Amino acid sequence: MRALNYLASVIVVASVLLTSASTAQIKHEEKSKPSITKAIAVLHPTKGSDVHGVVTFEVVEMRVRVVADLTGLAPGKHGFHIHELGDCSSSDGTAAGGHFNPTGMPHSMPSSDKRHIGDLGNIEADKDGKAHLDYVDHMLTLEDVNSIIGRSVIVHEKEDDLKTQPTGAAGARLACGVIGVAKPAAPEK
Ligand code: CU
Ligand code: ZN
Repeated sequence: MRALNYLASVIVVASVLLTSASTAQIKHEEKSKPSITKAIAVLHPTKGSDVHGVVTFEVVEMRVRVVADLTGLAPGKHGFHIHELGDCSSSDGTAAGGHFNPTGMPHSMPSSDKRHIGDLGNIEADKDGKAHLDYVDHMLTLEDVNSIIGRSVIVHEKEDDLKTQPTGAAGARLACGVIGVAKPAAPEK
């Protein structure tokens, strides 16, 4: 009986040790791959344009909040997209490629489930040429294969009609900015 009790306690101690070891390992793996919670694109004008701005992408409750502030636009709506390539090297913005569309969907509006991931719709400028946008997108992600990190943000001359394939007929590219990893926002107090 004593021997059995001893054996039982050895098993309990061993299993506790094993459990804590595997928990420690999981914690270590989580720590070694910190997740990205915020990204930023600083937009610079293309040739002949004076459009500047900053766009941030912040993870909020598993979705991505988009906040954009632009200046130098003509009043009205302007197509606003994430393009496939993080390349703003050409003077007309075309090096950024087409709309970011890793899932092979048609061009559409931000609220659609079947859209280019990069379809952010339009941003509207006031009479002073300033535009502000703040909304939570249901499709963007900063993680894994469809991550927008390393892609680019483009703002266009014309309004995106949300239906013409594959561009929304938004015209020339007025500003371009590469999306990079940003310093995480300070936790709210
Ligand atoms: Cu575009
Ligand atoms: Zn599109």
